[in-house]
Amino acid sequence: MSHFDLCCFACGATHASDMYTLACERCGGPLDVRYAAETTGASGGEPPMPYHDRAAAVTLGEGGTPCVELRAVAGMLGIRRVYGKAEYQNPTGSFKDRGTAAMMSVAAELGVTAVVEDSSGNAGASVAAYAARAGIEAHVFAPADAPAAKLSQIRVFGAHTHLIEGPRQAAEEAAVAYCEARGMVYASHNLSAYFLEGTKTFAYEAARQLADDSPQHLVTPVGNGSLATGPWKGYVELADAGLIKYRPRVHAVQARAVMPVAAAYEGSAWSSADARRTIAGGISVATPPRKAQVLDVLRQSGGEALAVDDGDIARWQRLLAKEEGIYAEPTSAAAFAGLQELVARGVVGAGDCVLVAITGSGLKDTPPA
Ligand SMILES: Cc1ncc(COP(=O)(O)O)c(C=O)c1O
Ligand SMILES: [Zn+2]
Repeated sequence: MSHFDLCCFACGATHASDMYTLACERCGGPLDVRYAAETTGASGGEPPMPYHDRAAAVTLGEGGTPCVELRAVAGMLGIRRVYGKAEYQNPTGSFKDRGTAAMMSVAAELGVTAVVEDSSGNAGASVAAYAARAGIEAHVFAPADAPAAKLSQIRVFGAHTHLIEGPRQAAEEAAVAYCEARGMVYASHNLSAYFLEGTKTFAYEAARQLADDSPQHLVTPVGNGSLATGPWKGYVELADAGLIKYRPRVHAVQARAVMPVAAAYEGSAWSSADARRTIAGGISVATPPRKAQVLDVLRQSGGEALAVDDGDIARWQRLLAKEEGIYAEPTSAAAFAGLQELVARGVVGAGDCVLVAITGSGLKDTPPA
């Protein structure tokens, strides 16, 4: 008997847990892990996880990233305190390792021997590493123009790397076709409920680290939105267990070139046909399958979604490096351009404390000199 099932976000239908069910069989909606009532929840300060044997979990020591105080950024923006959670310090250089660790732990527990994934780079590198660790064969589909350092990182872990011409969406379609033809497991970080569970640890850690000065705001770059939905689930669990007094407002930052969530939030017209190239490749997701769920997190938390220009993203990437000594990838710098806009709108006030997810390393996504 499992201690959880998979529950549809849209219609509430429940499904038994396995590695094959990625969407609701009734309505196609995204699935979330829902624990049985007797599961201890967050009460011990540790997140419940969707596998049974913690000792056998597939791990590379992900998480435990510091919250670095960013005094220069706070000074520039005229706000009391800004922390950056240094997610680029994860084992493969991005926050994706949190989700991958949980997803691959479930895969290993269920005896999966091969997985297929599609990615703009970071999730592919992460799945490749954790698959190597677990002795699972990995096939990663990535856009042919993904950053070279990300592609070589995928290859170094021994993953079969399939480069697909065309937009990000083409890599996803090729991965799905490959899986369907072979009956393989599609370990999609965008769809997997287990991946989302892993990202909850971000909130558990941040709540512990910043217990004396809990942030009123969490600002995160959003493509599919796993660092909005996952940490929010963690904050809800922590609040339900009485371990935190309040939950932060979660703000979603997108590139103006690909802004489905921000457009839906603003109520402006935008379709995937409007998508353009952006230097923030990690959030170049034109049709995020969890869009409604991200919007729900914004609504519940009182957060906003906003779109920022590539010029501002590049400027913040340089500022972070020159003023704080942090080399973030453009996708991650987008969150700071978003924070600046939130301050300008008066959403973030001068007396507030803000936590920003610095999701990935600039070393893997270096702009041409
Ligand atoms: C560095 C970085 N930040 C943020 C994201 C966005 O994650 P999500 O698509 O779950 O919103 C990605 C996704 O690839 C990424 O690589
Ligand atoms: Zn459903």
